[in-house]
Amino acid sequence: MTNKKSQQRPGLRDVIAGETKICLLDETRQDFYYRGYSIKELAQKATFEDVIYILLFDDDPLEERLSLQSQLFLHRDAIVNTLRTQNRNAHPMDILATLIRTFGNEVYSLDATEDQESVEKFALSLTFDVGYLAGIMKRWYERRRPLIMPEIYDSVAKNILYQMKGRKPDEFEEHLMDLALILYAEHEFNASTFAVRLAASAHTDIFSAIVCGIGTLRGSRHGGANENAMRIMLEIKNPENVRKYVNRFLKTPGARLPGFGHAVYTQGDPRVPIIKPWVKELSERKRDTRWYEIALALEEYMAERAKEKNRGIPANIDLWTAPLYYLLGIPIPFYTPLFASARIAGWCAHYLEVRHNPKVPILRPRAQYIGPQPRPFLS
Ligand code: ACO
Repeated sequence: MTNKKSQQRPGLRDVIAGETKICLLDETRQDFYYRGYSIKELAQKATFEDVIYILLFDDDPLEERLSLQSQLFLHRDAIVNTLRTQNRNAHPMDILATLIRTFGNEVYSLDATEDQESVEKFALSLTFDVGYLAGIMKRWYERRRPLIMPEIYDSVAKNILYQMKGRKPDEFEEHLMDLALILYAEHEFNASTFAVRLAASAHTDIFSAIVCGIGTLRGSRHGGANENAMRIMLEIKNPENVRKYVNRFLKTPGARLPGFGHAVYTQGDPRVPIIKPWVKELSERKRDTRWYEIALALEEYMAERAKEKNRGIPANIDLWTAPLYYLLGIPIPFYTPLFASARIAGWCAHYLEVRHNPKVPILRPRAQYIGPQPRPFLS
Protein backbone atom coordinates (compact mmCIF):
# COMPACT_ATOMS: atom_id res chain seq x y z
CA MET A 1 0.00 0.00 0.00
CA THR A 2 1.39 3.45 -0.87
CA ASN A 3 -0.02 6.92 -0.61
CA LYS A 4 1.84 8.54 -3.48
CA LYS A 5 0.22 11.93 -4.07
CA SER A 6 2.68 13.70 -6.29
CA GLN A 7 6.32 13.68 -7.17
CA GLN A 8 8.60 13.85 -4.15
CA ARG A 9 11.44 16.44 -4.17
CA PRO A 10 14.14 15.64 -1.62
CA GLY A 11 14.69 18.71 0.54
CA LEU A 12 11.83 20.40 -1.35
CA ARG A 13 14.49 21.75 -3.76
CA ASP A 14 13.02 24.17 -6.31
CA VAL A 15 9.49 23.56 -5.03
CA ILE A 16 7.53 26.83 -4.97
CA ALA A 17 6.01 26.65 -1.50
CA GLY A 18 4.16 29.97 -1.44
CA GLU A 19 4.09 33.56 -2.62
CA THR A 20 6.09 36.40 -1.10
CA LYS A 21 6.68 40.09 -1.75
CA ILE A 22 9.62 40.22 0.65
CA CYS A 23 12.66 38.72 -1.05
CA LEU A 24 13.71 37.72 -4.57
CA LEU A 25 16.77 35.50 -5.10
CA ASP A 26 18.43 35.88 -8.49
CA GLU A 27 20.89 32.99 -8.68
CA THR A 28 21.95 33.72 -12.25
CA ARG A 29 23.00 37.30 -11.51
CA GLN A 30 24.26 36.42 -8.04
CA ASP A 31 22.10 39.02 -6.44
CA PHE A 32 19.05 39.19 -4.22
CA TYR A 33 16.53 41.87 -3.38
CA TYR A 34 14.69 43.03 -0.29
CA ARG A 35 11.33 44.23 -1.65
CA GLY A 36 13.00 45.15 -4.92
CA TYR A 37 16.17 46.76 -3.51
CA SER A 38 19.38 44.98 -4.50
CA ILE A 39 21.47 43.72 -1.58
CA LYS A 40 24.51 45.23 -3.31
CA GLU A 41 22.97 48.68 -3.12
CA LEU A 42 21.57 48.24 0.39
CA ALA A 43 25.00 47.11 1.60
CA GLN A 44 26.45 50.40 0.37
CA LYS A 45 23.73 52.87 1.26
CA ALA A 46 21.33 51.51 3.89
CA THR A 47 21.47 50.94 7.62
CA PHE A 48 20.02 47.89 9.37
CA GLU A 49 17.26 50.16 10.67
CA ASP A 50 16.34 51.11 7.07
CA VAL A 51 16.27 47.40 6.22
CA ILE A 52 13.96 46.65 9.16
CA TYR A 53 11.41 49.17 7.90
CA ILE A 54 11.78 48.00 4.29
CA LEU A 55 11.25 44.36 5.24
CA LEU A 56 8.45 44.87 7.75
CA PHE A 57 6.51 47.70 6.19
CA ASP A 58 7.73 47.97 2.61
CA ASP A 59 9.47 51.25 3.32
CA ASP A 60 6.34 52.84 4.70
CA PRO A 61 7.32 53.98 8.17
CA LEU A 62 4.24 55.49 9.76
CA GLU A 63 5.12 58.08 12.37
CA GLU A 64 3.73 55.97 15.22
CA ARG A 65 5.73 52.95 14.07
CA LEU A 66 8.95 54.93 14.08
CA SER A 67 8.41 55.98 17.66
CA LEU A 68 7.82 52.42 18.81
CA GLN A 69 10.96 50.33 18.53
CA SER A 70 12.23 48.39 21.53
CA GLN A 71 9.98 47.55 24.46
CA LEU A 72 12.59 45.41 26.11
CA PHE A 73 13.70 47.87 28.76
CA LEU A 74 10.11 47.91 30.07
CA HIS A 75 10.49 44.22 30.92
CA ARG A 76 14.00 44.27 32.33
CA ASP A 77 13.05 42.57 35.62
CA ALA A 78 11.38 39.62 33.89
CA ILE A 79 14.41 39.14 31.63
CA VAL A 80 16.87 39.33 34.52
CA ASN A 81 14.75 36.99 36.69
CA THR A 82 14.56 34.42 33.89
CA LEU A 83 18.30 34.62 33.31
CA ARG A 84 18.88 33.93 37.01
CA THR A 85 17.16 30.55 36.65
CA GLN A 86 19.11 29.46 33.56
CA ASN A 87 22.04 27.11 33.19
CA ARG A 88 25.18 28.83 31.91
CA ASN A 89 26.19 25.59 30.17
CA ALA A 90 23.23 25.90 27.78
CA HIS A 91 23.89 27.23 24.28
CA PRO A 92 23.08 30.97 23.90
CA MET A 93 20.54 30.16 21.16
CA ASP A 94 18.56 28.10 23.67
CA ILE A 95 18.73 30.86 26.27
CA LEU A 96 17.69 33.32 23.56
CA ALA A 97 14.62 31.21 22.77
CA THR A 98 13.77 31.16 26.49
CA LEU A 99 14.13 34.95 26.76
CA ILE A 100 11.97 35.55 23.71
CA ARG A 101 9.32 33.39 25.31
CA THR A 102 9.74 35.35 28.58
CA PHE A 103 9.35 38.60 26.70
CA GLY A 104 6.31 37.21 24.90
CA ASN A 105 4.75 36.07 28.16
CA GLU A 106 5.17 39.60 29.52
CA VAL A 107 3.46 41.36 26.65
CA TYR A 108 1.15 38.74 25.21
CA SER A 109 -1.58 37.30 27.41
CA LEU A 110 -4.26 34.68 26.90
CA ASP A 111 -6.82 37.27 25.93
CA ALA A 112 -4.41 39.28 23.77
CA THR A 113 -5.80 40.67 20.58
CA GLU A 114 -4.11 39.48 17.45
CA ASP A 115 -5.15 42.33 15.24
CA GLN A 116 -2.60 43.35 12.65
CA GLU A 117 -1.65 46.58 14.40
CA SER A 118 -0.82 44.88 17.71
CA VAL A 119 1.17 42.15 15.99
CA GLU A 120 3.09 44.76 13.98
CA LYS A 121 4.08 46.43 17.25
CA PHE A 122 5.41 43.13 18.61
CA ALA A 123 7.23 42.50 15.33
CA LEU A 124 8.90 45.88 15.38
CA SER A 125 9.94 45.54 19.00
CA LEU A 126 11.34 42.03 18.37
CA THR A 127 13.47 43.19 15.44
CA PHE A 128 15.32 45.50 17.81
CA ASP A 129 15.16 43.33 20.91
CA VAL A 130 16.73 40.08 19.68
CA GLY A 131 20.07 41.84 19.15
CA TYR A 132 19.82 43.51 22.54
CA LEU A 133 18.98 40.18 24.20
CA ALA A 134 22.07 38.64 22.59
CA GLY A 135 24.15 41.43 24.11
CA ILE A 136 22.55 41.12 27.55
CA MET A 137 23.10 37.35 27.46
CA LYS A 138 26.76 37.75 26.67
CA ARG A 139 27.30 39.76 29.85
CA TRP A 140 25.21 37.34 31.89
CA TYR A 141 27.28 34.37 30.65
CA GLU A 142 30.42 36.17 31.77
CA ARG A 143 28.87 37.10 35.12
CA ARG A 144 29.44 40.78 34.33
CA ARG A 145 27.49 43.48 36.06
CA PRO A 146 25.54 45.48 35.24
CA LEU A 147 23.57 43.87 32.42
CA ILE A 148 23.68 46.80 30.01
CA MET A 149 20.26 47.78 28.70
CA PRO A 150 20.10 49.22 25.16
CA GLU A 151 20.40 52.92 24.40
CA ILE A 152 17.37 53.26 22.17
CA TYR A 153 18.77 56.27 20.32
CA ASP A 154 21.87 54.35 19.23
CA SER A 155 21.87 51.93 16.29
CA VAL A 156 21.23 48.23 16.81
CA ALA A 157 24.79 47.53 15.62
CA LYS A 158 26.28 49.97 18.14
CA ASN A 159 24.17 48.60 20.98
CA ILE A 160 25.09 45.00 20.22
CA LEU A 161 28.80 45.77 20.18
CA TYR A 162 28.56 47.92 23.31
CA GLN A 163 26.79 45.14 25.17
CA MET A 164 29.12 42.45 23.81
CA LYS A 165 32.35 44.31 24.49
CA GLY A 166 31.45 46.60 27.37
CA ARG A 167 32.72 49.64 25.45
CA LYS A 168 31.25 51.76 22.70
CA PRO A 169 32.55 50.59 19.30
CA ASP A 170 34.33 52.94 16.91
CA GLU A 171 32.59 53.91 13.65
CA PHE A 172 34.38 51.26 11.61
CA GLU A 173 33.38 48.44 13.96
CA GLU A 174 29.81 49.72 14.06
CA HIS A 175 29.73 49.84 10.25
CA LEU A 176 30.92 46.23 9.99
CA MET A 177 28.33 44.95 12.45
CA ASP A 178 25.66 46.95 10.61
CA LEU A 179 26.75 45.38 7.30
CA ALA A 180 26.60 41.85 8.74
CA LEU A 181 23.09 42.59 10.07
CA ILE A 182 21.96 43.85 6.64
CA LEU A 183 23.40 40.85 4.77
CA TYR A 184 21.86 38.33 7.15
CA ALA A 185 18.49 40.07 7.56
CA GLU A 186 16.50 38.10 5.01
CA HIS A 187 16.86 35.30 2.47
CA GLU A 188 13.53 34.07 1.08
CA PHE A 189 12.33 30.60 2.15
CA ASN A 190 15.45 29.41 3.98
CA ALA A 191 14.91 26.72 6.63
CA SER A 192 14.35 28.99 9.65
CA THR A 193 12.12 31.43 7.76
CA PHE A 194 10.12 28.53 6.41
CA ALA A 195 9.74 27.27 10.00
CA VAL A 196 8.37 30.71 10.96
CA ARG A 197 5.98 30.73 7.99
CA LEU A 198 4.81 27.23 8.86
CA ALA A 199 4.06 28.31 12.42
CA ALA A 200 2.40 31.52 11.18
CA SER A 201 0.20 29.49 8.82
CA ALA A 202 -1.14 27.67 11.89
CA HIS A 203 -1.99 31.13 13.31
CA THR A 204 0.20 30.76 16.35
CA ASP A 205 1.41 33.92 18.11
CA ILE A 206 4.47 35.75 16.82
CA PHE A 207 6.66 34.82 19.80
CA SER A 208 6.03 31.09 19.35
CA ALA A 209 6.76 31.43 15.62
CA ILE A 210 10.06 33.22 16.29
CA VAL A 211 11.07 30.51 18.76
CA CYS A 212 10.57 28.00 15.89
CA GLY A 213 12.90 30.13 13.77
CA ILE A 214 15.53 30.28 16.52
CA GLY A 215 15.41 26.51 17.00
CA THR A 216 15.88 25.89 13.28
CA LEU A 217 18.61 28.48 12.76
CA ARG A 218 20.65 26.93 15.56
CA GLY A 219 21.35 23.82 13.43
CA SER A 220 24.86 23.28 12.05
CA ARG A 221 23.59 23.07 8.45
CA HIS A 222 22.10 26.55 8.82
CA GLY A 223 23.07 29.40 11.18
CA GLY A 224 25.20 27.21 13.43
CA ALA A 225 27.71 26.91 10.56
CA ASN A 226 29.32 30.29 11.33
CA GLU A 227 30.40 29.03 14.76
CA ASN A 228 31.78 25.81 13.27
CA ALA A 229 33.57 27.72 10.50
CA MET A 230 35.54 29.61 13.14
CA ARG A 231 36.20 26.46 15.13
CA ILE A 232 37.78 24.74 12.13
CA MET A 233 39.88 27.85 11.37
CA LEU A 234 41.21 27.75 14.92
CA GLU A 235 42.07 24.07 14.45
CA ILE A 236 43.74 24.77 11.10
CA LYS A 237 45.93 27.43 12.78
CA ASN A 238 47.65 28.64 9.62
CA PRO A 239 47.01 28.64 5.84
CA GLU A 240 49.69 26.02 5.09
CA ASN A 241 47.64 23.42 7.00
CA VAL A 242 44.49 23.92 4.95
CA ARG A 243 44.99 21.13 2.37
CA LYS A 244 45.83 18.49 4.89
CA TYR A 245 42.98 19.55 7.18
CA VAL A 246 40.35 19.60 4.43
CA ASN A 247 41.47 16.24 2.98
CA ARG A 248 41.21 14.66 6.40
CA PHE A 249 37.93 16.41 7.25
CA LEU A 250 36.18 15.37 4.04
CA LYS A 251 37.30 11.76 4.30
CA THR A 252 34.46 11.10 6.73
CA PRO A 253 31.40 10.01 4.72
CA GLY A 254 28.74 12.73 4.70
CA ALA A 255 31.11 15.41 6.05
CA ARG A 256 30.26 19.01 5.10
CA LEU A 257 32.87 21.70 5.55
CA PRO A 258 31.23 24.55 7.53
CA GLY A 259 31.00 27.77 5.52
CA PHE A 260 30.70 25.97 2.16
CA GLY A 261 27.75 24.96 0.04
CA HIS A 262 24.26 26.37 -0.28
CA ALA A 263 20.87 24.87 -0.99
CA VAL A 264 20.13 27.51 -3.67
CA TYR A 265 23.41 29.01 -4.94
CA THR A 266 25.66 26.79 -7.01
CA GLN A 267 27.76 29.58 -8.54
CA GLY A 268 28.43 31.50 -5.35
CA ASP A 269 26.78 33.29 -2.46
CA PRO A 270 26.25 36.98 -3.45
CA ARG A 271 26.98 38.03 0.12
CA VAL A 272 30.55 36.73 -0.05
CA PRO A 273 32.02 39.34 -2.46
CA ILE A 274 30.33 42.08 -0.40
CA ILE A 275 31.70 41.07 2.99
CA LYS A 276 35.12 39.71 1.99
CA PRO A 277 36.94 43.03 1.32
CA TRP A 278 35.75 44.32 4.70
CA VAL A 279 37.17 41.27 6.46
CA LYS A 280 40.47 41.98 4.70
CA GLU A 281 40.43 45.60 5.82
CA LEU A 282 39.51 44.72 9.39
CA SER A 283 42.30 42.11 9.47
CA GLU A 284 44.84 44.68 8.25
CA ARG A 285 43.68 47.30 10.72
CA LYS A 286 43.89 44.77 13.56
CA ARG A 287 47.28 43.55 12.22
CA ASP A 288 45.98 39.99 12.33
CA THR A 289 45.52 38.63 8.82
CA ARG A 290 45.82 34.96 9.77
CA TRP A 291 42.07 34.19 9.77
CA TYR A 292 41.49 36.07 6.54
CA GLU A 293 44.30 34.08 4.93
CA ILE A 294 42.98 30.76 6.23
CA ALA A 295 39.49 31.54 4.88
CA LEU A 296 41.05 32.52 1.55
CA ALA A 297 43.14 29.32 1.45
CA LEU A 298 40.01 27.28 2.23
CA GLU A 299 38.17 28.95 -0.66
CA GLU A 300 41.08 28.35 -3.02
CA TYR A 301 41.54 24.72 -2.08
CA MET A 302 37.81 23.94 -2.28
CA ALA A 303 37.81 25.53 -5.77
CA GLU A 304 40.80 23.37 -6.77
CA ARG A 305 39.05 20.22 -5.54
CA ALA A 306 35.90 21.30 -7.38
CA LYS A 307 37.80 21.44 -10.68
CA GLU A 308 38.95 17.86 -10.17
CA LYS A 309 35.41 16.75 -9.38
CA ASN A 310 33.81 19.01 -11.98
CA ARG A 311 31.44 20.39 -9.41
CA GLY A 312 31.78 23.57 -7.34
CA ILE A 313 30.94 23.96 -3.68
CA PRO A 314 31.45 27.70 -3.21
CA ALA A 315 31.87 29.42 0.13
CA ASN A 316 28.82 30.87 1.82
CA ILE A 317 28.63 34.02 3.97
CA ASP A 318 29.32 32.07 7.17
CA LEU A 319 32.92 31.44 6.13
CA TRP A 320 33.49 35.20 6.13
CA THR A 321 31.42 36.41 9.06
CA ALA A 322 33.29 33.93 11.27
CA PRO A 323 36.65 35.79 11.07
CA LEU A 324 34.78 39.11 11.06
CA TYR A 325 33.12 38.39 14.40
CA TYR A 326 36.32 36.86 15.73
CA LEU A 327 38.30 40.00 14.98
CA LEU A 328 35.54 42.12 16.51
CA GLY A 329 36.14 40.17 19.72
CA ILE A 330 32.85 38.27 19.83
CA PRO A 331 32.93 34.85 21.52
CA ILE A 332 32.13 31.99 19.13
CA PRO A 333 28.86 30.77 20.79
CA PHE A 334 27.38 34.22 20.07
CA TYR A 335 27.83 34.04 16.29
CA THR A 336 24.49 32.30 15.75
CA PRO A 337 22.63 34.68 18.11
CA LEU A 338 24.07 37.49 15.98
CA PHE A 339 22.71 35.79 12.87
CA ALA A 340 19.33 35.63 14.67
CA SER A 341 19.62 39.33 15.60
CA ALA A 342 19.61 40.06 11.87
CA ARG A 343 17.28 37.36 10.55
CA ILE A 344 14.63 38.40 13.07
CA ALA A 345 13.74 41.17 10.61
CA GLY A 346 13.04 38.64 7.85
CA TRP A 347 11.24 36.27 10.20
CA CYS A 348 8.91 39.00 11.44
CA ALA A 349 8.25 40.23 7.90
CA HIS A 350 7.30 36.70 6.82
CA TYR A 351 5.18 36.21 9.93
CA LEU A 352 3.21 39.37 9.10
CA GLU A 353 2.90 38.35 5.44
CA VAL A 354 1.39 34.98 6.33
CA ARG A 355 -0.53 35.61 9.55
CA HIS A 356 -2.87 38.27 8.29
CA ASN A 357 -3.44 36.94 4.81
CA PRO A 358 -6.57 34.78 4.85
CA LYS A 359 -5.60 33.37 1.46
CA VAL A 360 -2.58 31.55 2.93
CA PRO A 361 -3.77 28.08 3.97
CA ILE A 362 -2.24 26.14 6.84
CA LEU A 363 0.92 24.53 5.43
CA ARG A 364 0.32 20.83 5.38
CA PRO A 365 2.20 18.64 2.88
CA ARG A 366 1.83 14.90 2.53
CA ALA A 367 4.41 12.19 3.23
CA GLN A 368 5.56 9.33 1.09
CA TYR A 369 4.87 6.40 3.41
CA ILE A 370 7.71 3.85 3.43
CA GLY A 371 6.96 2.07 6.73
CA PRO A 372 5.52 -1.39 7.45
CA GLN A 373 2.35 -2.42 5.63
CA PRO A 374 -0.84 -2.59 7.76
CA ARG A 375 -0.55 -5.57 10.17
CA PRO A 376 -2.43 -6.89 13.20
CA PHE A 377 -1.37 -5.81 16.67
CA LEU A 378 -0.84 -8.93 18.79
CA SER A 379 -1.08 -8.10 22.46
N1 ACO B 1 31.51 20.42 2.17
C1 ACO B 1 31.79 19.39 1.36
N2 ACO B 1 30.94 18.93 0.43
C2 ACO B 1 29.76 19.57 0.32
C3 ACO B 1 29.41 20.65 1.14
C4 ACO B 1 30.34 21.08 2.09
N3 ACO B 1 30.06 22.12 2.91
N4 ACO B 1 28.18 21.08 0.82
C5 ACO B 1 27.77 20.28 -0.19
N5 ACO B 1 28.73 19.37 -0.48
C6 ACO B 1 28.68 18.33 -1.53
C7 ACO B 1 28.24 17.01 -0.90
O1 ACO B 1 29.33 16.20 -0.60
C8 ACO B 1 27.37 16.41 -1.97
O2 ACO B 1 28.21 15.73 -2.88
P1 ACO B 1 27.81 14.30 -3.44
O3 ACO B 1 26.54 14.51 -4.21
O4 ACO B 1 28.97 13.91 -4.27
O5 ACO B 1 27.58 13.43 -2.24
C9 ACO B 1 26.81 17.61 -2.72
O6 ACO B 1 27.69 18.70 -2.48
C10 ACO B 1 25.41 17.97 -2.27
O7 ACO B 1 25.42 18.03 -0.85
P2 ACO B 1 24.12 18.35 0.00
O8 ACO B 1 24.44 18.27 1.43
O9 ACO B 1 23.03 17.45 -0.52
O10 ACO B 1 23.87 19.83 -0.46
P3 ACO B 1 22.65 20.71 -0.09
O11 ACO B 1 22.54 21.72 -1.14
O12 ACO B 1 21.46 19.87 0.21
O13 ACO B 1 23.08 21.35 1.33
C11 ACO B 1 24.03 22.82 2.87
C12 ACO B 1 23.34 22.68 1.51
C13 ACO B 1 23.13 22.23 3.97
C14 ACO B 1 24.24 24.29 3.12
C15 ACO B 1 25.39 22.07 2.81
O14 ACO B 1 26.16 22.60 1.78
C16 ACO B 1 26.13 22.12 4.14
O15 ACO B 1 25.84 21.35 5.05
N6 ACO B 1 27.11 23.06 4.27
C17 ACO B 1 27.89 23.19 5.48
C18 ACO B 1 27.12 23.98 6.53
C19 ACO B 1 26.97 25.45 6.14
O16 ACO B 1 27.92 26.13 5.82
N7 ACO B 1 25.75 25.95 6.26
C20 ACO B 1 25.46 27.36 6.02
C21 ACO B 1 24.48 27.48 4.88
S1 ACO B 1 24.26 29.17 4.39
C22 ACO B 1 23.47 29.92 5.67
O17 ACO B 1 22.77 29.34 6.45
C23 ACO B 1 23.72 31.37 5.76
